[in-house]
Amino acid sequence: MIAELDIDRIIADRVVRRSHWEPLLPRKKIGYTRSRLYASEAFEVLALLWFPGATTPIHDHGASYCATRVLAGELHVTRYLRPDASNDDGRIPLQLVGRSVQQIGEGDAMESARDLHSVANRATNEALSIHVYAPRYSEFGIYDASGVRIATATARYDAVFNF
Ligand SMILES: [Fe+2]
Repeated sequence: MIAELDIDRIIADRVVRRSHWEPLLPRKKIGYTRSRLYASEAFEVLALLWFPGATTPIHDHGASYCATRVLAGELHVTRYLRPDASNDDGRIPLQLVGRSVQQIGEGDAMESARDLHSVANRATNEALSIHVYAPRYSEFGIYDASGVRIATATARYDAVFNF
């Protein structure tokens, strides 16, 4: 299904309407907000607004494909690979894939339930990113650094739009 999606086009379609949706994004003083810009059966597009100091735990995206693109600010991203997707007890440690500081126009693609990351805004200004998930997912796993799946979380939206 991923092969049929033009991720660059999906992102570009939202970027051209950025002036319409960006002012509507919910804001809070800490953490980050997740706003759904668009959803179909095949995929959904979210805008994440990251406030200074925002950081996520190490997480997967269910079994969905995830593509990201920074639109403003910069994001510190640490990527991991689970050696075995059934390794919920952390018998085998997570493999560190790499760390990067992603600038405007940069991003990542994670293709399976084995691809994990943590994301942080360590700057003093906000960061904005677009995320495409295919297909949509409702639950995702949170992991500790040793690879133990410590929680299952429910995906939430701070706002839902149709752009
Ligand atoms: Fe993520």
